[in-house]
Amino acid sequence: MSHKQVSQKNGSLVNGTNGHSNGYGNGTNGLSNGYGNRYKNGFTDGHHVEHGHSDFMKIQRYQDLIGSTPMVDITSLANPKVPGVKVLGKCEFLNPGFSMKDRIVKNIFDKAEQTGLLKPGGTVVAASSGNTGAAVAMLAAMRGYNAVITTSPKCSEEKVASIKAYGAKLIMSPPGVSEDHPESYMNMAKKLARENEGWFDVNQYDNLDNPEGHYRTLGPEIWEQTVGRVTHFVAGGSTGGTITGTGKFLKGKNSNIQCVLADPMGSIFHEYFMSQKLTKPKKFLVEGVGKGSIPGCMDFGVIDDVIQVTDKQSFQTCHQLARKEGLMVGGSAGLNTWAAIQLANQLEEPGVVVTVLCDLGVKYLSKVYNETWLQENNISYGIN
Ligand SMILES: Cc1ncc(COP(=O)(O)O)c(C=O)c1O
Repeated sequence: MSHKQVSQKNGSLVNGTNGHSNGYGNGTNGLSNGYGNRYKNGFTDGHHVEHGHSDFMKIQRYQDLIGSTPMVDITSLANPKVPGVKVLGKCEFLNPGFSMKDRIVKNIFDKAEQTGLLKPGGTVVAASSGNTGAAVAMLAAMRGYNAVITTSPKCSEEKVASIKAYGAKLIMSPPGVSEDHPESYMNMAKKLARENEGWFDVNQYDNLDNPEGHYRTLGPEIWEQTVGRVTHFVAGGSTGGTITGTGKFLKGKNSNIQCVLADPMGSIFHEYFMSQKLTKPKKFLVEGVGKGSIPGCMDFGVIDDVIQVTDKQSFQTCHQLARKEGLMVGGSAGLNTWAAIQLANQLEEPGVVVTVLCDLGVKYLSKVYNETWLQENNISYGIN
């Protein structure tokens, strides 16, 4: 089969599911599956001798593969009232550090290097629920920085181990401290940056280069992959970077696009959106989303609605994604997908609901996909 035929086959496969080509990667390698940059380096057609040398020369470093993730159709989990409703998931777990946080850390590092805040051999400190920590540790390793990551005991053992695997130093906050406590993981990072001259604080919660990272990459990719047909964007929030940056970009393209925050039951965002009142957070198990304070990166002006989701709904949706669609993703991806499905099921007219499959399920094998841990938390497997 010629290269052209392969391209057409891939194109028609995507067309068959989405009803339209998603506009990514065409022209570069003929694959319309959203892998634009990733396979630009010639692996797909490297066997053509006449292109061999230049394709070989285009092979990139791992950090250059951040972004340009594929989008998949997960409508099979929904039960829409009307025809023409699609639920699409952005495969952010296919980023090099296995989460969407690679995008923001790359943008934050690039900016800090340009402005001289981050100098060769310098030290980077970051507070994180795990994924930003892994992305910081990974990029610091590749760019020759020292990395110090603070996190809380809620961080899964897999995420803790991977941060250390990249060579970063990990500091765990004491158990049970609230976000405003001096020893919370967020305040510990700030203190370390204050006390150690020259250390660069990633400060993902207030650093506007975080939402900008999504404004520059995730938003445009969603717009292009749906050929501008996206009607709803659904994402959970912690720093608010994803929903704010992506939402701003999409609304700039089409102000009718609705941005919906998926919020774990127990997080304060829902009540703050409804009444502008700050409440006390309650315990929930999903990692990486929901908060007990309002970060500087979260812009509620972009958010049209908030859907609350329980731990059980989040984790059982993860089980469904794994067993129906082969997508083994983290708890926040389950939370996002559950909210996206509710929204899709309520639509009265055709629509394209896009959500984010934030990170890889392997980061939570000891929790979300561990029957003992689920039982301890009174959650049954969503699908057998
Ligand atoms: C797994 C996971 N999902 C979702 C989010 C929320 O993203 P954001 O901080 O952009 O609001 C995070 C952030 O830490 C995360 O780690």
